[in-house]
Amino acid sequence: MAKAINDVSVPEDLGLREKLLLEKHADYLATYGNTEEGSEHAYEYCVTEYLRMSGVYWGLTCMSLLGQLDRMNRVEVVSFIRKCRCDNGGYSASPGHDSHLLYTLSAIQICCLYDAVTELDVDGIVEYVAALQREDGSFSGDQWGEVDSRFSFCALACVTLLHRQDAIDVRSAADFVVRCMNFDGGFGVVPGSESHSGQVFCCVGALALANQLDSIDADTLGWWLCERQLPSGGLNGRPEKLPDVCYSWWVLSSLAMIKRLHWIDKDKLRRYILACQDDETGGFADRPGNIVDPFHTLFGVASLSLLGDTSVEKVNPVLCMPQSVLDRANVYLL
Ligand code: FPP
Ligand code: ZN
Repeated sequence: MAKAINDVSVPEDLGLREKLLLEKHADYLATYGNTEEGSEHAYEYCVTEYLRMSGVYWGLTCMSLLGQLDRMNRVEVVSFIRKCRCDNGGYSASPGHDSHLLYTLSAIQICCLYDAVTELDVDGIVEYVAALQREDGSFSGDQWGEVDSRFSFCALACVTLLHRQDAIDVRSAADFVVRCMNFDGGFGVVPGSESHSGQVFCCVGALALANQLDSIDADTLGWWLCERQLPSGGLNGRPEKLPDVCYSWWVLSSLAMIKRLHWIDKDKLRRYILACQDDETGGFADRPGNIVDPFHTLFGVASLSLLGDTSVEKVNPVLCMPQSVLDRANVYLL
């Protein structure tokens, strides 16, 4: 008997979800940070303290793509970032937590969105990032030493946004990423580990930042990425997994970077993404009918932008930031 495909169904009639509910998503994100007791999102907000800096990046980037960044409180955000600066030059997720490359990148991305890079101690950050590079070109995410190709992306993105690629060994950073490439064209966490769409985004992004995209076997990788599309139209992260809106981003942005975006069934994917909207609360979930969150809301909107939706701002596939922000910061990629 043939094995059933792991997938979900998308209704024929999406009702209100046939269109991008732009205002509803903006209202959802604008009220998300309202933590007063009894407020709608107070609990979720509390339990996500350990990743707050990235949460702020997701929310603000999405608001910017929706053309409504001015509804958010710049002064409060900049003051939050200042409180997350650690003595070693890096940034943490929340005040009093340890620094990490992931949150350092989010802090820089937020400052770029707000044209507030002068708020950052650039030399301190660059020193922090450079000290995390290891002999083999890889990067640890923090002082505790875990190595992951995600951190290669974060490190390269930090120094690129700050115009300081000279501070790290870009060549050996790219060599390590190439060693994470597998026979199927995909990339894993470290050399020899299974291909995963999230890591593909990080590795292809890292190679784009290092100007080494020609190290990729674009046809083999493009084929593997297109295999991620399921009958529902949604994309998964690995074979046998369910579709998820955030993988629309990891897969689609990778296809865009290797110039194979036209290989995917765009109409079917757009329908899947629209079906993941909540037409009452606003926001996107990973799958139709599930609970929404700011992470999937950003990647839903950013994916629609890559699919050519002109009601939202153009997004850059390497850094998941509005293209206009990178143009203003003189960061030129792809
Ligand atoms: C899947 O994660 C996603 C990834 C591994 C990619 C994460 C990318 C970064 C941290 C780089 C920064 C990103 C941007 C957009 C600037 P998961 O742990 O949810 O995987 P799972 O679905 O297999 O559980
Ligand atoms: Zn997801």
